[in-house]
Amino acid sequence: MPTARMEIYPGAVLLPGILSRGEQRDLVQVCRAIGTGATGWYVPTVRGGGQMRVRMLCLGRHWNARTYRYEACRADYDGRPAPPLPAALSSVAVRIAEAAGMGLTPDVCIVNYYDAAGKMGLHQDKDERQETLDAGIPIVSVSLGDTAKFLVGGLRRRDPKVMVPLASGDGFVLGGESRLRFHGVAAIVPRTGPADLGLDGRLSLTFREGAAA
Ligand code: SIN
Ligand code: MN
Repeated sequence: MPTARMEIYPGAVLLPGILSRGEQRDLVQVCRAIGTGATGWYVPTVRGGGQMRVRMLCLGRHWNARTYRYEACRADYDGRPAPPLPAALSSVAVRIAEAAGMGLTPDVCIVNYYDAAGKMGLHQDKDERQETLDAGIPIVSVSLGDTAKFLVGGLRRRDPKVMVPLASGDGFVLGGESRLRFHGVAAIVPRTGPADLGLDGRLSLTFREGAAA
C-alpha cells in the first residue's frame, strides 16, 4: 500500500506510518545498543550554559552544542570519536526522502531521546554546508515511541506555527523551499507510543547531509 503523504508546506512533508512496527523495533534496538555503549547518550550543554531537554547521540559526525559546528570527536563532551552512522539507519532516511520526492545522502544522524518532560526550542537547522542548504537537500526525521507535538513555522522566528503531531513510525521531511523553516518540539504526549517498542518516551532520528568535513 503506498504511504500517505501530507504536504504541510511546499517541501515540508509528513509521511504518516511509513515505518512498519518491525522496522521501528529494529531502530529502537540499534539506538539503544549504541546509546548504552561507551560512546553513548549525553545531555548537551548549549552556548549560554543551559542544558538541553533531551539526551543526544550523534552518529557519523558530532554536532557541537557550543560551537554549532560538526566535528569528528565530541569536543564539548568527552572527546570521544562520534560513532559511525550505520548503513541500516541511512537506508531508512534515503527511502523516506524518496517517498517525499527528494534525494538525500546522509552523513550524520542526530538521535534525540525525550522523556515525558522533553522538548526542543524553536530553531533552524542551518549548520550543514552552504551548498546543501542552497540546494534544499532535506532533513529527514523518524519518530519512535511517544507522540511529539512538533511545531513548524516560517523563515522568521516570529512567523505563525502549525502543530504537527509526530507519532511512532512517522517520517517528516523538511526540504526544498522549507529547508530553513523554524521548528521545534513543544511537548511529548506521555504513554502514546506502541507498548511493544518497550520505549518510555520518544526517540527522534534526524538525518542530514552536509556535515562532513
Ligand atoms: C530537531 O529538530 O533537531 C529534532 C526534531 C525532532 O525531535 O523531531
Ligand atoms: Mn532541527
